[in-house]
Amino acid sequence: MSLSIEALLKRSIQSLILEGSDSPQVDAAVLLCHVLDKPRSYLLTWPEKIVSDEELGNFNALLERRLTGEPIAYIVGYREFWSLPLKVSPTTLIPRPDTERLVEVALDHLTPNAQSILDLGTGTGAIALAIASEMPTLNVIGVDYQDDAVELAKGNAKINHINNVEFRQGSWFEPISLSDKFDIIVSNPPYIDGNDPHLSEGDVRFEPQTALVAEQNGFSDLIHIMQHGREYLLNGGWLMMEHGFEQGEQLRHFFEEHGYINVKTEQDYAGNDRVTLGQWVVDN
Ligand SMILES: C[S@@+](CC[C@H](N)C(=O)[O-])C[C@H]1O[C@@H](n2cnc3c(N)ncnc32)[C@H](O)[C@@H]1O
Repeated sequence: MSLSIEALLKRSIQSLILEGSDSPQVDAAVLLCHVLDKPRSYLLTWPEKIVSDEELGNFNALLERRLTGEPIAYIVGYREFWSLPLKVSPTTLIPRPDTERLVEVALDHLTPNAQSILDLGTGTGAIALAIASEMPTLNVIGVDYQDDAVELAKGNAKINHINNVEFRQGSWFEPISLSDKFDIIVSNPPYIDGNDPHLSEGDVRFEPQTALVAEQNGFSDLIHIMQHGREYLLNGGWLMMEHGFEQGEQLRHFFEEHGYINVKTEQDYAGNDRVTLGQWVVDN
């Protein structure tokens, strides 16, 4: 059966709506662009073009996966973050638009003399690469304990031609020498409680729990990084971490208990608490 681009999109959007996708138009267009290896504008310019049998077969196979709820980013293998195309894999989290807020907060707190940034739980390398791409004179280190994530992040640095970043494997501060001190430590660690019902909904179902779930109601990794971050920050350096929208108040309290000053929480683009930060001043 021969189908035009327009007819194929229409048919697949209907199937996606029936399966409850909340972004059927985008899903169908992204998958078809991926199969045709063309930009979105091609679909609008050539709606009457006939899709070949081979392309149709490939498209239907991808659509089937999306209809079972698999995230689009895993199906096409990449996601854009901070305008950088990043490869993704089921080894780690798909970078979220809200995490760009953490990048903005980090860039806002860089002093002109800043030299080094550490990104803990780097995953695809999203945060480290975004910061490194904006500030080519900085040295950025990203750490993840998943070997595959570290390889993914290294590949993403290569694809994007970003050279001022290094990725290391290990648990949190383990691969960092105590003599290395940082102007800013950023992290988007696992922060979801294991009993949170959102873990069985949407894209999150397909992402690894190792990237999402933390003990102590989701706070254990946040607190670990806060405790040990003090040893790795330069005097006046900042620790800033992404967290759940209901964790801000508690986290500010923990930061202050650990001796950080100028503690504050920044909101994401929807106005929810998303990033809490504090400054480490020696002799405070
Ligand atoms: C929420 S994901 C964030 C990924 C990426 N930074 C982002 O924002 O898209 C958390 C990451 O922390 C990593 N992680 C979990 N426990 C870790 C540990 N003990 N040491 C280092 N990384 C860890 C996971 O493998 C995962 O890549």
